[in-house]
Amino acid sequence: MVHVLEHAQSLAGAFELIDEDVRRCSQAFISELRLGLREKTPSMCQIPTFVTQIAGGHEKGISLGVDLGGTNLRVCSVELHGDTTSTVLQSQLPVPPDIMVCDQAARLFSFIANRIEDFLGTYHQSRLDAVANDPGTPPLSLGFTFSFPAYQTALDSGILLRWTKGFDIAGAVNQDVCKLLQMEIDILKLPVKVAALVNDAVGTVMSRAYSLPPSHVRPMVGAIFGTGTNGVYLQALSEVTKPIEGQPEHPDRSMFMSTEWGSFDNKLAVLPVTPYDLELNAFSVNPGDQMFEKRVSGMFLGELLRLAVLDLCSDDQVRLFRNFDTQDLAVAKRWSVDSSIVSVAEADNSTGLSVLSQKISDTLGIPEDYATAEDAQAVKLIAHAIGTRAARLAGMAVGSVILQGRLRENQGANSDTGPGKGGTKVDVAVDGSVVEHYPGFEVHMRNALKALDGIGDEGESKIIIGHTKDGSSVGAAIIALLATRDI
Ligand code: BGC
Repeated sequence: MVHVLEHAQSLAGAFELIDEDVRRCSQAFISELRLGLREKTPSMCQIPTFVTQIAGGHEKGISLGVDLGGTNLRVCSVELHGDTTSTVLQSQLPVPPDIMVCDQAARLFSFIANRIEDFLGTYHQSRLDAVANDPGTPPLSLGFTFSFPAYQTALDSGILLRWTKGFDIAGAVNQDVCKLLQMEIDILKLPVKVAALVNDAVGTVMSRAYSLPPSHVRPMVGAIFGTGTNGVYLQALSEVTKPIEGQPEHPDRSMFMSTEWGSFDNKLAVLPVTPYDLELNAFSVNPGDQMFEKRVSGMFLGELLRLAVLDLCSDDQVRLFRNFDTQDLAVAKRWSVDSSIVSVAEADNSTGLSVLSQKISDTLGIPEDYATAEDAQAVKLIAHAIGTRAARLAGMAVGSVILQGRLRENQGANSDTGPGKGGTKVDVAVDGSVVEHYPGFEVHMRNALKALDGIGDEGESKIIIGHTKDGSSVGAAIIALLATRDI
């Protein structure tokens, strides 16, 4: 008979990512980042965002935002007061599953346009009346936060490369998503102009920049660790040798690049691989794609935990959950377990792990009488291993873009510049359910940052990680306003 905890401990060991692994991943990560600056690559595609200025906090104006990035659609209006504060009005509702996965793009975009119409009717009827009375009234600018890989060819256009996070609408792939949305808005004759396409990671960096006092260093990295994951960073254009439409020679300028790091190392040359990663990938809607995301983001951590726990259950010798027959329970059903159990497990330090035991019953379907405190401890060990690996990979990614973004300075006159070598502070804006709810995510990220050559302990201490909300509303609003006038 094998002791449950011993077995869980050894299973958890498969998720360990030692400092040497972090460094190896980072080297490969930086090579892929650089490749993406030279060529249009299929994986980490380094999408130009056309955002070249960072907010200062003084921006003023009103604009609309639409946020499509996961299972919810959010429509909002944002008024920037010009003093780092803003007022946001918003409505949110789920995207119906039969629209998330269907053939026709028009179904999704007319759904969005109709929600914009409802929103304007509720909150901005006076604007609609003004337009009705004077057709010369300028349209409202809309920032479209579209958190999927769309290759931008201008601030207000982007071609959808592929869907992620469970969406699958074949008719939208290879189409300009801004045009598709504008078309449906025009059919409804709404006074709205899609002025900017905004990835949530760039919205996050802008939103944080707007909220900071002028004396604070401006953020140069934005990262999302939520349902999906992605990072943007400020890149000197002189190093971008692939063509960027409409950007002739601007060697002195920088632009935020959206790395789409979710698809780092799709070939699995350096990423850690357990049998559970392989199984999760094989049964996902996009096998072979988004391999980094499948180890880091909220869409997948619960499924990884489920697969690992199920593996323990299938071993009669282990007697997890007293060998209760799990066949018809949630634990045996693919994609039935969301990632919140991973955070709950990490957070529960109560005697007997009562909160986690309740969650095991609610989420995995194991009757409470069958989940002993030791079983809960075993689940906690596995959750800890999965969460720590995710956070260390997240730290690796953030550190790698910092190193890439600082490259030019490091090569400049003062080779001591840069994080960890007497350089200035670096600010990183982060958002997303995983970084927000998984206890200690930042601590593990920071440990990975310390492990990186070129950052180390001293460099890590100069990295500010700022949790930022409202990237997809406030951030997108600023970008939309920047697009239409000088603010
Ligand atoms: C998408 C990115 C997005 C990230 C976070 C990923 O699945 O490919 O575009 O920024 O999720 O929402």
